[in-house]
Amino acid sequence: MNKKNILITGGAGFIGSHVVRLMVNKYPDTQFVNLDLLTYAGNLENIADVADKPNYTFVRGDIRDADFLKDLFEKYHFDGVIHLAAESHVDRSIENPLEFVETNVIGTVNLLNTARNLWQNDFNDKLFYHISTDEVYGSLGKTGLFTEDTPYDPHSPYSASKAASDHFVRSYHDTYGMPTVISNCSNNYGPNQFPEKLIPLFINNIKHNKPLPVYGDGQYTRDWLYVIDHARAIDMIFTEGKAGETYNVGGFNEYTNIDLIHLLCDLVDEKLGRPEGTSRKLITFVKDRPGHDKRYAIDASKINRELGWKPSVNFSEGLSKTIDWYLENEVWLNNVTSGDYQKYYEEMYGDR
Ligand code: NAD
Ligand code: TYD
Repeated sequence: MNKKNILITGGAGFIGSHVVRLMVNKYPDTQFVNLDLLTYAGNLENIADVADKPNYTFVRGDIRDADFLKDLFEKYHFDGVIHLAAESHVDRSIENPLEFVETNVIGTVNLLNTARNLWQNDFNDKLFYHISTDEVYGSLGKTGLFTEDTPYDPHSPYSASKAASDHFVRSYHDTYGMPTVISNCSNNYGPNQFPEKLIPLFINNIKHNKPLPVYGDGQYTRDWLYVIDHARAIDMIFTEGKAGETYNVGGFNEYTNIDLIHLLCDLVDEKLGRPEGTSRKLITFVKDRPGHDKRYAIDASKINRELGWKPSVNFSEGLSKTIDWYLENEVWLNNVTSGDYQKYYEEMYGDR
C-alpha cells in the first residue's frame, strides 16, 4: 500500500463495513477515516470490532455538506478516497428520487471537488475510487452479459443517480486528469445487509412466519456475489487497478428471484428444523416494482485477467453462512428493524 491517509465513505453500511474491516486489518501502517452519516442504513455495530484500532477513526458527517468536507480533507490530507456512501435501495428511490440525487450525485461531486481542491492538480500517488453498480447498464434479455463497454441505460431513480455519479467521476479524470477508478458490481449478499433488501428481508420474514412479497412473477434474474468477495475486489482495484479504468465485478452466479426464494425457504426450514415445504407457503406474489429490470449479469473477465480476482465463496456456502449469521445475530436484526440503534446515535451525536 503506497497511501498514508485514506478516506472511506459509507463505511458503516453493508459493503463499506466489510471494506473497512479488511483494509484496516490488512494495512496497519495506513490511517483510515470512515466518514458516514449513519442514516437508517449505517450502523456502527457493523464495525464494532475495528473501532479501537490505532489506524482507524470514525467521523460522522454528510457528503452533501461541501464546507464540512473541506475541513475534513484539510485536517487529514487524504491521498486516497474509496467512496461507497450512497442511498442504495431501488424501492426507496421510487418513493423519493431527490434524496438519491442529493446524496449519490451531489455528494459524489462534492467529494470530487474537495479532493481536487486539496490535491491542487498535483495528482501524483493520489486516487479517487468510486464504487458503483451493474444497474447502470440497464436490463439484459435472456442472454448476454454486461461488459465494461456496455452503454449506460439506467431505469430506476437509484440507477440513474449512480450512472450520473459515474459520469461525473469519469469527467474529472478526462477534464482535470484526476486519477479515478470505477467498479460496477452485481447484487451483494452476506452479513450486515439492511433487511429491506431481498435476502435479509426474506430470511427475517421466514424466521417470523411473515409473508414473502415476491414482485411480479418472480422471474427476474440477479447475479449474486458474497460481500466479502466484493470487499476483496475493492482492495485489489484500489491497490492495483489502473487509473482511468472501469472494472466489472460479479459472482458468475445467476438466479431467478423465485428459484432463490425457494432455496432460502428450504435452507431456513432445514436450519430451524421445520418440516420440508413449511416456508414456501409464505410466498405471496405482489404488485410488480415499476421499471423493474428483468436481468442483470456481469462479465467479470477483465478483473480476473488483469488483477487475478475471482470469487472465493460459492453460492451454497455463502448463502448458508449468511442465513446462519442472521439467525445468530438476533439482537442486530431486532435493533435495526426496531430503529433502536438510530435513537442511540441521536443521543450520542446529536445532529452530527
Ligand atoms: P448501504 O445502504 O448499506 O450503506 C450506505 C452507507 O452510506 C450507510 O452507512 C449510510 O449511512 C451512508 N450514507 C448515506 N448517505 C450519506 C451521506 N449523505 N453522507 C455520508 N454517508 C452517507 O449500501 P451498500 O449496499 O453497502 O452499498 C455501498 C455502495 O456500493 C453504494 O454506493 C452502492 O451503490 C454500491 N453497490 C451496492 C451493491 C449492493 O448489492 N448492495 C451492489 C453494487 C454496488
Ligand atoms: P433488491 O434486493 O432490492 O436489489 P435490486 O433491486 O438492487 O436488484 O431486489 C432483488 C430482487 O428481488 C429484485 O428483482 C426485486 C426483488 N424483490 C422482491 O421480489 N421482493 C422484495 O420484497 C424485494 C425487496 C425485492
